[in-house]
Amino acid sequence: MALNNKTTTILLVVYTVVATVNVVAELQRFDHRPTKADGSLDILVVGDWGRRGLYNQSDVAFQMGKMGEKMNVDFIVSTGDNFYDDGLTDDNDPLFVESFTKIYTAKSLQKQWYSVLGNHDYRGNVFAQLSPALKQRDSKWLCLRSFIVNSGIVEFFFVDTTPFQDKYFTEEDHDYDWRGILPREEYLSNVLKEVEMALEESSATWKIVIGHHTIFSAGHHGNTQELVDQLLPILEEKEVDLYINGHDHCLQQISSPNSQLQFLTSGGGSKAWRGDINQWNPNELKFYYDGQGFMTLRITEDEIDVAFYDVFGEILHEWSTSKYTLKDS
Ligand SMILES: *[C@@H]1O[C@H](CO)[C@@H](O)[C@H](O)[C@H]1NC(C)=O
Repeated sequence: MALNNKTTTILLVVYTVVATVNVVAELQRFDHRPTKADGSLDILVVGDWGRRGLYNQSDVAFQMGKMGEKMNVDFIVSTGDNFYDDGLTDDNDPLFVESFTKIYTAKSLQKQWYSVLGNHDYRGNVFAQLSPALKQRDSKWLCLRSFIVNSGIVEFFFVDTTPFQDKYFTEEDHDYDWRGILPREEYLSNVLKEVEMALEESSATWKIVIGHHTIFSAGHHGNTQELVDQLLPILEEKEVDLYINGHDHCLQQISSPNSQLQFLTSGGGSKAWRGDINQWNPNELKFYYDGQGFMTLRITEDEIDVAFYDVFGEILHEWSTSKYTLKDS
């Protein structure tokens, strides 16, 4: 079939538009505004948890429920490794109910959960965790690869970090579900571009990036060099305030030597007590707890308050930072 010039031009234009849209694809966005009269946002952060209540998962869940009620939390963040050992098999997997619905039962936890995927989730059927069918089974569930939650004063950038780690692509002991990730270089470069662009466009006072893997950690897994090389420069350039992760089964705060950026680990949702901690500059390692627990964040226009709790609901560590914005007089 011969195409006349006009048709060819139109096709070219359509092709160019589609190609451009592909390159600058935007991350999926959710609006989640604070509902409290004072405009503050309160959230809980837990990671590395789904073990049918074992390894103190239920105890952590119980204390999260108490703190969730006290703070009247707006939502809950999961830093990934949602279901052990190998994610979910399909969207009917009973593990979903046994490790999530039947564990986080407190009324205060029946809020929206925003979850990323961890490396253990990638060992199962990734599409099962991403499936809208899970929302039918438990309406508080939401898990996506990379996405944004905009709360006005603060914007949360969730990043799919598992595909960044080289070793998962060469490991022989485990199979990973890389559907939707390949070709890998293209996937990673798109994620980085999308996050960079979204951070660039953000007008929020506070910028918080969340991923499963560590950037810096004194724990068992230690630093994730791929993220130090590829993601960290973007976070520093775009003046991100907090990077929050799981992966190491501990609670931890590391302060950046170069900027305001804080590295917070909340990976104490169930099995912990690895017992191994690597040497770290004490000026940077503000806190390390090699046991179970969770983290809370209270965010206002001027201030972020971070706190870590153990399985007894005892406070382990607190830290605050302020940002006084110039207001018109
Ligand atoms: C549960 O938590 C307690 C208190 O931190 C700890 O002593 C115990 O070892 C934990 N149990 C497991 C199985 O991790």
